[in-house]
Amino acid sequence: MWEIQERFGLDALATVDRAEPEPGPGQVVVRVRAASLNYRDLLTVEGAYNPRQPLPLIPLSDGAGEVAAVGSGVTRVKEGDRVVGNFAQKWISGTPSRERLRTSLGGPLDGMAAERVLLDAEGVVAIPEHLSFEEAACLPCAAVTAWNALVAQGNLTAGDTVLVLGTGGVALFALQLARLLGGRVIVTSSSDAKLERAKALGATDVVNYDTTPSWDEAVKTMTNGQGVDNVLELGGAGTLARSLRAVRFGGQVSLIGNLSGLDAQLNLAHVFMRGVRLQGILVGNRDMFEAMNRAITLHRMRPVIDRTFAFDDLPAALEHLKGRGHFGKIVLRVA
Ligand SMILES: NC(=O)c1ccc[n+]([C@@H]2O[C@H](COP(=O)([O-])OP(=O)(O)OC[C@H]3O[C@@H](n4cnc5c(N)ncnc54)[C@H](OP(=O)(O)O)[C@@H]3O)[C@@H](O)[C@H]2O)c1
Repeated sequence: MWEIQERFGLDALATVDRAEPEPGPGQVVVRVRAASLNYRDLLTVEGAYNPRQPLPLIPLSDGAGEVAAVGSGVTRVKEGDRVVGNFAQKWISGTPSRERLRTSLGGPLDGMAAERVLLDAEGVVAIPEHLSFEEAACLPCAAVTAWNALVAQGNLTAGDTVLVLGTGGVALFALQLARLLGGRVIVTSSSDAKLERAKALGATDVVNYDTTPSWDEAVKTMTNGQGVDNVLELGGAGTLARSLRAVRFGGQVSLIGNLSGLDAQLNLAHVFMRGVRLQGILVGNRDMFEAMNRAITLHRMRPVIDRTFAFDDLPAALEHLKGRGHFGKIVLRVA
């Protein structure tokens, strides 16, 4: 398994052996077959996500595998079942809470960069039949976050227009899920080549935010001056002001990411004078995950995997994420 050891930093990652986990009552041991990377994992390893996180820590919130052993009283799953971990083990339904979030994998709890992990039987979700372990490992954080912003908090309906910033993990799930639900999707990216790939995935309109710095105006033009119904705000401080100008009266800006920083300066009139809803999004609960999986199964939707790395190459995989060359998800093959 991989550990962030005595200090933070990509160079502080090391492979170690720990005792084989044994399932207690209500627990399962999962033989992990694949894990995936999120921007949060990079921040965690670098110490920027939670500088007070006790170490050592096994990183990565997302992983999929087979149930290898079950503890007493477990009826939800059995040995051999293909499962994926729920991001916050004890967040089954309802709103987030401090107690529920304390059970998040990959910090504060040990994560999925390990051959075998101990999880709550209630904290795993069945893998859609048509997905491989690599594909299923992409779902817990990025896809559930996109689903929460679009469906649980966004009430997306056919014909709605969604603006998605960038072409990373959350962004491409938002594109795929919004299209599957009948939405029109506008995607921004710093790369024309990535925008072409986004079109192939169903993006109806695209805009390059490097060559068109006033991308909010371009989005307004694409929507007959109205603005979009829902912005999946992944950029953070550097993009929020433009996102607020790109949303329609009464629309929603789903605050998800901080790729360009956390401290934003805002003209509040752009929010209240236009009746805009600023909705914070925090991943999602198990009920959302299972609802999303029903849609993914029905439409045989497949996550977009940019690249798969060998287990020993976790530091290189994180460097690849940091380099922003990726399109979709970065996966670690575990066994
Ligand atoms: N609130 C939550 O629960 C939650 C859950 C998941 C993720 N997040 C956050 O959401 C963000 C995205 O996460 P991820 O894992 O999907 O990241 P990721 O896969 O690393 O996506 C990064 C991509 O975003 C685009 N990008 C980078 N800087 C940008 C900017 N200033 N403006 C617009 N786009 C930019 C780039 O796409 P192009 O190359 O196409 O330009 C980049 O490749 C992160 O901030 C993460 O912490 C939050």
